[in-house]
Amino acid sequence: MTAVELDLEKVGAVAQQVVGLATGAATSAMILVGDRLGLYAALAAEGAVTPQRLADTTGTAERYVREWLAQQAAVGLVTYDPESGTFTLPPETAAVLAIDDSPAAMTGMCVLTEGLFRDIGPLVEAFRTGQGIPWGDHDPAVFRGTERSFGAMYRASLVSEWVPALDGVAEKLEAGALVADVGTGYGLPVILLAQAFPRSQFVGYDLHAPSIEVARQRAKEAGVADRVRFEVNYCQGYPQEGYDVITFFDAFHDLGDPVGSGAYARHALAPGGSLVLVEGRAEDDLATNLAENPVAPFGYAASTFLCVGNSLSQPVGTALGAQAGLKRLREVLEQAGFSDVRHVADSMINMVVQARV
Ligand SMILES: C[S@@+](CC[C@H](N)C(=O)[O-])C[C@H]1O[C@@H](n2cnc3c(N)ncnc32)[C@H](O)[C@@H]1O
Repeated sequence: MTAVELDLEKVGAVAQQVVGLATGAATSAMILVGDRLGLYAALAAEGAVTPQRLADTTGTAERYVREWLAQQAAVGLVTYDPESGTFTLPPETAAVLAIDDSPAAMTGMCVLTEGLFRDIGPLVEAFRTGQGIPWGDHDPAVFRGTERSFGAMYRASLVSEWVPALDGVAEKLEAGALVADVGTGYGLPVILLAQAFPRSQFVGYDLHAPSIEVARQRAKEAGVADRVRFEVNYCQGYPQEGYDVITFFDAFHDLGDPVGSGAYARHALAPGGSLVLVEGRAEDDLATNLAENPVAPFGYAASTFLCVGNSLSQPVGTALGAQAGLKRLREVLEQAGFSDVRHVADSMINMVVQARV
């Protein structure tokens, strides 16, 4: 090996960067502790509190709470007043960590990260063998984290921004449409659509039976089970019943055969029907995505752990990845037989694409 003269200043900067990244991971774990014990909700309700007061209101032990608060203050999530010895959760932090149906809610990303850590062993093995990792093999924190992190975005944007941006879809949903959602997971977007469009009928398909069980329960709890069915099915096996709309929420790039699945969906659509993809927001080429997409670092991590492996576990194994970009998605949809492909909306982490024949 050739000896390389190191720029020690740059080494220091990289070391500092890694300390920052590790601090982020450790803080994710601390956020989950606060979330599970209701510490953020209590801080939001109480205003300025001493550790003892927070421990009393949450039924927890003061010594642990004091240490947790110190860490949260060290990373700037709560403020500390040395004179009164109290800690305060600013309303802006509450919007992100204490209120789960806030459009800014982000705790789900920490839950997803917990799942990634638990899946390090199988991923290391998959790197060695090149084998795929089916979605259902992941730690359940991955499923919970997916629902919770995407949920904030779906609640904030799906009905109010994305549906109106789709050509002709809102009118069909208002009048009474038949909608299929493929790769539905825990089914949250379908339930939100069913609540907003009571004349329409929905069916969610997913090959992961435990997710379908949860989705059915969620539909019952939301009071929409009369109009929403969830069925275990493969993306190229569900009944082709003439749907007005077929959606894939963060699922299309996960499929082994996106071209075949797109073509299958094309045959399952009624004349004039729309395919709707909600995909990870990404630029078309790696260099631009690295330079311009603030969610690329998390997107590539989730893609390495989850999306690439699931696709490789299925026939064809295209492995588009979660950061495929619009140009690549358009190519896939055109190969699947769609000629009218439009990018209709964006959120911080998503882009929405409508395809018609
Ligand atoms: C990232 S999750 C998205 C779940 C949900 N749509 C959401 O946005 O929260 C991807 C889902 O696609 C499902 N999936 C993967 N491959 C599939 C296939 N070939 N057929 C049907 N579902 C599939 C997985 O089981 C998983 O539930």
